Amino acid sequence: MLSVLLLAFPIQGEITDWTERELAIIQSLSPQLPPLPVPPNPSNQYADDPAAAELGQLLFFDKGLSPTGTVSCATCHNPEKGWSDGLALSKGIGGTAFNAPTILNSAYGRWQFWDGRTDSLWSQALQPIEDAVEMNSSRTFALHRIANGPKLRKAWESFLGPFPDISSFKRFPQNACPPPTSSQNPFEITEPSQDPRHLAWAEMNLADQNKINESYANLGKALEAYQRKILSGPSAFDQFVAGLRKEEGGDLNALSGNAQKGLRLFVGKGNCISCHFGPQLTDGEFHNVGLSIADGVEFDDGRPTGIQKLRSEIFNGRGIYSDDSAWDSNQHLLYLFYNEHTFGAYKTPSLRNVARTAPYGHDGRFPDIESVLEFYSELPGLPPVGHREETLLPLNLNDEEKFSLIAFLKSLTGHRVPKALQGS
Ligand code: HEC
Ligand code: HEC
Repeated sequence: MLSVLLLAFPIQGEITDWTERELAIIQSLSPQLPPLPVPPNPSNQYADDPAAAELGQLLFFDKGLSPTGTVSCATCHNPEKGWSDGLALSKGIGGTAFNAPTILNSAYGRWQFWDGRTDSLWSQALQPIEDAVEMNSSRTFALHRIANGPKLRKAWESFLGPFPDISSFKRFPQNACPPPTSSQNPFEITEPSQDPRHLAWAEMNLADQNKINESYANLGKALEAYQRKILSGPSAFDQFVAGLRKEEGGDLNALSGNAQKGLRLFVGKGNCISCHFGPQLTDGEFHNVGLSIADGVEFDDGRPTGIQKLRSEIFNGRGIYSDDSAWDSNQHLLYLFYNEHTFGAYKTPSLRNVARTAPYGHDGRFPDIESVLEFYSELPGLPPVGHREETLLPLNLNDEEKFSLIAFLKSLTGHRVPKALQGS
């Protein structure tokens, strides 16, 4: 009875005159109701191996990977906080200079990190472990942890067979890793690192270093296999689009009239669609939206340094630890170049589940969605490097328009990830 009434009296503000252009764009944002399959990653032969994912899940929640026993991946990518941490700037052993993006749906992305300095989820996972302010651990520490933790070791062995013998602390020090790629830039003259982890690594012979690197890459590959399963299910927006298509499970009432107005702004006057497009509402690439430098945040030029780090990264898709270094997509790493558009550019975040992942922006400067919209409305300030992309013009949104856009963005929250994947 109720649904008959609703049909007879459409919800106030509901849009019934979508243009062909609008309908085509809207459908491209939600091509189907169930989540899309994640793209293959030939650089990781274990990407879809269930045993790898099981090990990855144990590792993701394991604080024992950090020498203090206090920080795991889930500290900053907490399932209860939209797989992020709710902080403006993320905190581990120390304070980081970046907002933690959610890892929900990160398997759909071509580049990882705000500056895209890695080209796969497996090589991404290897960095926070060794980052001094995140887990301040090392590849040998993490591997000794697996070797000596019965549960982890068992999971490793059902995935890859016998764990390599690294029991000699003389050959495989407790805590050793090379300095991060960024400090290996040949164009920069830097003092040799005095970090004990780096000194211990320099003492190891090449064959032993390589043995550790191979296993460390596999640890990353297990973490990727797990994260490939962390996908958000259909949202109210997807139900609405299925409704436009008259598909099963579709529901034209899934979006309020206001949210529909917000959607119209998003694909029309707001021009959000020029960067936030496709099923993840991101182009997966990098743009300078012209954020001024925030107080107390160290200067960072975004994508150009990201490209430089990516190229010199031994764990990149073209490197010796990749399972398919000839994979077509990896070849593009050769042709990445900086131009005026890359300075000050950061990765366009997906807007799926955006209501769950405040604060926003690469430096977490926006406490809520409203303040992001105020930024797009006025475009205050100048970026410290490069220039704001010309496609962005102040939108001068009125309160009703902001309210509608917020209602639309809130409709992008998907179903929760199954409980069994939310802990270890
Ligand atoms: C101390 C908090 C912290 C810990 C611990 C941490 N991360 Fe992150 N993570 C971040 C921050 C901050 C960023 C963004 C940094 C940047 O872009 O430079 C990030 C970025 C990422 C990204 C890229 C997402 C994207 O959209 O670009 C992935 C994936 C990720 N982390 C997974 C992991 C995994 C796996 C672990 C454990 C091995 C981990 N993180 C540990 C804070 C953390
Ligand atoms: C020129 C490309 C571009 C356009 C146009 C654009 N965005 Fe963005 N958006 C980005 C980039 C890049 C970021 C990350 C900026 C940063 O932190 O440096 C971002 C960040 C955001 C965020 C923060 C998300 C998060 O997780 O931190 C929201 C929300 C957002 N945009 C919504 C919108 C809306 C709504 C519109 C239209 C009014 C829009 N964007 C137009 C590129 C764009």
